[in-house]
Amino acid sequence: MVEHDLLEVCAIEQMSDLSAWGWDAYHKEMESGGDTIMLVARTDLAFHQNEIAGFIVARIIADEVHVNNVAVRPDFRGQRLGSTLLRRALEQGRLKGANVARLEVRAGNQAAQRLYERCGFEVDGRRKNYYREPTEDALLMSSRLTSAIR
Ligand SMILES: CC(C)(COP(=O)(O)OP(=O)(O)OC[C@H]1O[C@@H](n2cnc3c(N)ncnc32)[C@H](O)[C@@H]1OP(=O)(O)O)[C@@H](O)C(=O)NCCC(=O)NCCS
Repeated sequence: MVEHDLLEVCAIEQMSDLSAWGWDAYHKEMESGGDTIMLVARTDLAFHQNEIAGFIVARIIADEVHVNNVAVRPDFRGQRLGSTLLRRALEQGRLKGANVARLEVRAGNQAAQRLYERCGFEVDGRRKNYYREPTEDALLMSSRLTSAIR
């Protein structure tokens, strides 16, 4: 992900019911140094003109990868883009020395939970009323990053 991508990233964020970071927050994250992992998936179909189909934002804190946001444009969901973005981000984290990945997810977000489970995450906690608008519990999920991620 580069600065030029951020308008498209924010548009996908808005289509995806995520807690909105917005342009400034993504830009700040991008400028913040080497411990951030920000990737986009691009369409390669001629009629889509190489648009961004999805993105992931994660950060390495000590020996952990924290996955903050992952989203795929609604018309490109179900084609493994989410899984590919997540696996690439985890692999980058592992290569930079992280040995565990963590994230929070809305308890009602089944699609995201399936994605995370497919990529090796397990639920290991719950935070009551963690999210707002609407109020909802967060499930805490983690995955050990012990060997090359495929
Ligand atoms: C979660 C999200 C990123 C998944 O992206 P994707 O590219 O469709 O995911 P994949 O194609 O890699 O699918 C991964 C798994 O998720 C499951 N999945 C995808 N969409 C689903 C849906 N609507 N309902 C249930 N499961 C779903 C898939 O079935 C797949 O598992 P399976 O095929 O083994 O059953 C996408 O749905 C999205 O952008 N959602 C809105 C944003 C969001 O909730 N982000 C996560 C919180 S930050």
